[in-house]
Amino acid sequence: MSAEDRARWDAMYVEGADMPVAALPAVFGGVADLFPRTGAALDIACGTGGVAVWLAQRGLRVQAVDVSAVAIVRARRFAEQSAVPVTFDVADLDAGLPSGEPVDVLLCNKFRNTALYGSMTARLKPGGLLAICVLSEVGATPGRFRAVAGELRAAFGALDVIADGEGGGQAWLVGRR
Ligand SMILES: C[S@@+](CC[C@H](N)C(=O)[O-])C[C@H]1O[C@@H](n2cnc3c(N)ncnc32)[C@H](O)[C@@H]1O
Repeated sequence: MSAEDRARWDAMYVEGADMPVAALPAVFGGVADLFPRTGAALDIACGTGGVAVWLAQRGLRVQAVDVSAVAIVRARRFAEQSAVPVTFDVADLDAGLPSGEPVDVLLCNKFRNTALYGSMTARLKPGGLLAICVLSEVGATPGRFRAVAGELRAAFGALDVIADGEGGGQAWLVGRR
């Protein structure tokens, strides 16, 4: 990621002073019970840590990364206030997934990098759960940041797809390896 893009994300998080909320994104609400209560989770592009803290509160051992150092400071503070341990790191996902153990849950909400799709599947333990939601062209004006129709099904067809959908400018998929 360019220094300018990183600075833009940082500035957004400096300005956006809302307290994060520990919650699973609504799009995954129908499958919340499928998330395990033990094991390892990786949250990529975690922002201020709301989902990472939800996963940790559920009992998972969570690693979470984001390119914005400002977001990670806020995420660490939120996890401390929530009294759950989460390992937060600043990382540029353009360089690939952070190294680490195979995971029981890989969560990616509102971040899209098609170059990572293969390594996301590979990072799951057998039986591990992927939950991904990206911006989509379906129901929105096409743009280079948006998934084309059918993108997630095509990318993650090797998983057992539990739930997926496209519409209203977003696409999501939950699948098990
Ligand atoms: C729309 S926000 C979503 C944040 C969070 N997943 C959520 O659901 O609230 C997109 C996030 O992606 C992060 N991001 C963008 N490009 C990135 C990159 N190359 N590496 C790591 N994080 C990145 C941004 O800093 C931002 O926190």
